[in-house]
Amino acid sequence: MNIIGFSKYGKPSELKKTTAAYPHGFDASNNIVIKVHAAAINPVDKGLLSGDLKIVLPVATFPHVISYDVAGVVEEADREGKFSVGQPVFARLFGNEKDGKKTPWYRGAMAEYCVADTSNVVPKPENLTFEEAASIPLVGMTALQVLKASGLKEGGSIFISGGAGGVGTMAIQLAKHVFKARLVVTTASNGEKEKLCKSLGADVVVDYKTAKFEEVYGGVNAEKFDVCFDTTAESLKMAAIVKDGGRIVTIAGMATLEELRRIGGTAWILKLFVKRRVKRKEYKAALSKNADWNYLFLLPSQNDLSTLAGHLQSGLIKPVLDGVWDFHSEDSEEGWQGAFNRSFSGRAKGKCVVQIVS
Ligand SMILES: NC(=O)c1ccc[n+]([C@@H]2O[C@H](COP(=O)([O-])OP(=O)(O)OC[C@H]3O[C@@H](n4cnc5c(N)ncnc54)[C@H](OP(=O)(O)O)[C@@H]3O)[C@@H](O)[C@H]2O)c1
Repeated sequence: MNIIGFSKYGKPSELKKTTAAYPHGFDASNNIVIKVHAAAINPVDKGLLSGDLKIVLPVATFPHVISYDVAGVVEEADREGKFSVGQPVFARLFGNEKDGKKTPWYRGAMAEYCVADTSNVVPKPENLTFEEAASIPLVGMTALQVLKASGLKEGGSIFISGGAGGVGTMAIQLAKHVFKARLVVTTASNGEKEKLCKSLGADVVVDYKTAKFEEVYGGVNAEKFDVCFDTTAESLKMAAIVKDGGRIVTIAGMATLEELRRIGGTAWILKLFVKRRVKRKEYKAALSKNADWNYLFLLPSQNDLSTLAGHLQSGLIKPVLDGVWDFHSEDSEEGWQGAFNRSFSGRAKGKCVVQIVS
């Protein structure tokens, strides 16, 4: 089968279209094979490719199939019959490299077929295309898990940095339409991205290229926020705009030792380079405002993906696609490479998706 992956850590130019064995011999007690129709790209893919994440997310075998987000049709069902052949599904793949198993096709959505643990798979919302469905799992679950952890309440206020990104576009919609926040403020560049954020439910968009949010909302008379959700590694500055008793949750920049352990990081070397939460300057800054600060990693949750599927089906939230690129084309703009270039540029508006079956 055709795959997009890399055979050594390095620059995006290491990503190649190549072939790998169809995933015969998977453990059908809790896995299915998906015929992939579409796969989406995330910043973590760049980190995985560069080798920056290898202490926490080591690659089991090269070539490593890239990407975590998938939508497709069940090609081979699990023995328990939780899913059936031909059923449209979507998932965020969580691999098993940490178990020490050599299953090169296990993690990796950017291929004609992939294997998914049934506990990560959810039926695709019928009103979504495969490309739209593939755009959701990683960013949608991240936004949902942060919002749940943040304690955001109906009528509350939230500041979300990076509103036009994959996570930001989900976070704005969930905060406004599901958690029913009274005030949603975000940062984005003006023009198209500002318009997009407003259409998704942002009440105010601060143009981050011409204004500093910590100044706009940092003054003594400015409104402060119950929750600050950081997707741009700016959580230190959020101490200036969080309410007394509020919460800052970040998903970007350096994680805490506790959070790396929570997602399964066991390497002793982590302790040398990664600080505990209470030692972080972001935590101390938040504490000085009687607020809380935490780093959060996405964890697998079929429940959360099912919840998102329900919100998508009912139209409460919608996918935001920067574009769809063609898996089968080697054209540097229209083909799959164009999707990676766009996503890895950090400038995308929503998600970059690669279509595998048209
Ligand atoms: N901890 C976790 O489990 C987890 C999960 C998901 C993502 N993440 C991390 O969260 C971050 C965001 O992910 P993502 O998927 O949303 O990224 P993304 O889709 O690549 O974000 C791109 C967008 O961010 C905007 N942007 C960049 N810098 C900005 C700034 N300073 N202020 C406002 N907007 C800015 C860009 O707009 P312009 O072009 O206008 O700059 C662009 O629209 C990444 O660092 C990612 O690794 C962590």
